[in-house]
Amino acid sequence: MSNSLSIVILAAGKGSRMKSPKAKVLHEICGREMLYYSIKAAREITDDVIVVVAHQKDAVIAAMEKYYTGLTFVTQDAENFPGTGGAMMGVQPKYDDVLVLNGDMPLIERSSIEKFLANPADIVMSVIPLDNPSGYGRVVIENGQVLRIVEEKDASEEEKAINTVNAGVYAFKHHVLQTYIPRLSNANAQGEYYLTDVIEMARADALSIAPLYVEEIEFKGVNSKNDLAQSEIIMMDRIRRTWMDAGVIMQLPHTIYIEEGVQFEGECIVENGVRLCGNTLISHSHIKAHSVIEESVVRNSDVGPIAHLRPLSVLEGTHIGNFVEVKKSTLTGVKAGHLSYLGDATIDEGSNIGAGTITCNYDGIKKYQTIIGKNVFVGSDTQLVAPVEIADNVMIAAGTTVTAGKYESDILILSRTTIKKIPGFFSRFFGKGN
Ligand code: UD1
Ligand code: CA
Repeated sequence: MSNSLSIVILAAGKGSRMKSPKAKVLHEICGREMLYYSIKAAREITDDVIVVVAHQKDAVIAAMEKYYTGLTFVTQDAENFPGTGGAMMGVQPKYDDVLVLNGDMPLIERSSIEKFLANPADIVMSVIPLDNPSGYGRVVIENGQVLRIVEEKDASEEEKAINTVNAGVYAFKHHVLQTYIPRLSNANAQGEYYLTDVIEMARADALSIAPLYVEEIEFKGVNSKNDLAQSEIIMMDRIRRTWMDAGVIMQLPHTIYIEEGVQFEGECIVENGVRLCGNTLISHSHIKAHSVIEESVVRNSDVGPIAHLRPLSVLEGTHIGNFVEVKKSTLTGVKAGHLSYLGDATIDEGSNIGAGTITCNYDGIKKYQTIIGKNVFVGSDTQLVAPVEIADNVMIAAGTTVTAGKYESDILILSRTTIKKIPGFFSRFFGKGN
């Protein structure tokens, strides 16, 4: 970690082009808010990370404090000083080298930031040549020197045709910011204080301004829901590659959705169409096609196809088959092969859950536990009306409604009505046959 660089992340804007009641930087990519990712990259380089907030600031701060401690939050006076230049007005970096980045660039990585630090110019700014530059500020360059940046809304037709754009990352010296930020004006189409105007003023004073050419794949700004989806595709690809490099087998990886909080251990297999969410751990397991796993732990198990593990499920040495839903349950050495709902349950070694078994865990007001011991054979179509506790070595007959209570070891539990046979009923009812 370098201790001589401050990083400022601008996250105070509304993001009107997102057309959302939620602040732009809180929109999620691979299960985490996009601001999480730029802070992650910044934190890998320095301990002085300053995040500028204003719009929905309490929500933004609370969201980031879930992941990070020791961030400095600065509130922008966005009413009187709107814009990216206004955002810089209250910032007090610890160090003289200050890197500024927009909070809507989730694809940025540590290596992307480090490129700026090697350059000795007074200001280093990121530029990308784009086939379609619309939405970005255009960079006017002459003889390799940046003259100024023109925002799209202020650009002439001629300037709009420039396809070299400002990616939104800059390395400044603190004293350069101290000189020019107070001189910014809001005489432009948006009535905002543009950080980008520092460039033209610094240029007029003969400071050196170096353009650093960067790749869109790391510096893409998210301004719309389309950009959000495109950035998620790129991020998801990185996540899958990382886990495949670590030894995970993926079939048709482009169909697999894996969030940032997911971890794998050992040689796991993930089949096509699987969705893995939240803080999930998959260890030495096989997840079959089209299963969904949320906030769960799966060890030495196989799950699916088309199974659903909802939050706080913990499986060890367990087989979960198709159309089985598990929620907030711990299953150790269990087989549940088909069509079941197991919620708020603890089931122990050697127990077999027949097709169609349902834990009736909710009475409309409260949730109740189902506890099943070792080697319990649960017949098909059993309802377990919780709270229910079944000791080891018990057999439950198919079709049984196990009412709430405690059941001792070495018994058969059976609830069935006696079969009646009514001769001639069919032909009388339908009026045909013999
Ligand atoms: C900005 C640049 C533009 C560049 C583009 C790259 C300016 C004036 N323009 O435009 O040249 O091509 O980024 O993506 O800087 N923010 C605040 N306070 C505000 C306004 C914005 O903190 O008052 C934050 C936003 O939360 C966002 C970032 O600054 O994270 C960029 O704001 P945005 O409105 O997206 O700027 P662009 O119009 O994209
Ligand atoms: Ca932007």
